[in-house]
Amino acid sequence: MKHLIDIMELSTQELEELIACAEDIIANPAKYAQACRGKKLATLFFEPSTRTRLSFEAAMYELGGQVLGFSEASSSSAAKGESVSDTVHTVSCYADIIAMRHPKEGAPLVASRRNWVPIINAGDGGHYHPTQTLADLLTIHREKGRFTGLTIGLCGDLKFGRTVHSLVSAMSRYEDIRFVFISPEELQVPEYIKTDVLEPRGIPYKEVASLENAMPELDILYMTRVQRERFFNEEDYVRLKDTYILTPDKLRNAKEDLSILHPLPRVNEISVLVDDDPRACYFKQVLNGKYMRMALILKLLEVKV
Ligand code: NCD
Repeated sequence: MKHLIDIMELSTQELEELIACAEDIIANPAKYAQACRGKKLATLFFEPSTRTRLSFEAAMYELGGQVLGFSEASSSSAAKGESVSDTVHTVSCYADIIAMRHPKEGAPLVASRRNWVPIINAGDGGHYHPTQTLADLLTIHREKGRFTGLTIGLCGDLKFGRTVHSLVSAMSRYEDIRFVFISPEELQVPEYIKTDVLEPRGIPYKEVASLENAMPELDILYMTRVQRERFFNEEDYVRLKDTYILTPDKLRNAKEDLSILHPLPRVNEISVLVDDDPRACYFKQVLNGKYMRMALILKLLEVKV
């Protein structure tokens, strides 16, 4: 049985196939409208979400399937003390596939071990978020037409931002990629990303504090929110939350074909004045996420269209 817990479980060829499938869905939606008829997706969200949960649900509806689930732990038996494993075992009696978000790193991996139904990691703590990476990859593919020869700046909370960890891992497999990590010292990318992902592949990266100085060399700028819920104290959060605010002014030195991405939600990191800049891609990214989740559901359920 196939699950998606970590983006690295998908080969670059499988990623290309998912992208090709998403592009075909965009071009021919009617062809897919009944593809998952009679199938059910469960969304088990033990943490807040807007885009990930609703795009999974919209994806399943657009494939002709149905959806059940919960959007907060407090409305499930987790509030009574049920284990994640028992909750997932139970839901696997009702659904054909599960998308699950949990604050504990590794919870979706544990849930997948018994192979009840395919499990998709929809975000586990500060660890990984592979389906956001699928949205990011389709966006990069559509904006840049390639995954090679790119300088990618990631800015903000690189320590707790799970979307950053999955995206860096995925992009590290392509030729001629460079990373610029832009963060305050306290929120630098975790050591394991450097020692296990970047250094073994000899991928150039630098860690800097100034967004303005980094701007001119970037092909992609991936902004992120400071992850308040993963901080140990509010004081640190308040001190760090507004370190980077992208405004039209700061884009003056940027490349004309820069692509600005953000997994959203944004709090204050991108001024709404940037939204009308043709380089702003974050709402396209939202839509791309739905198409990639449709492609992923088809793959994991082994539906042929
Ligand atoms: C991200 C997440 O949940 O990690 N949101 C999302 O799924 N698009 C980013 C975030 O919450 O900052």
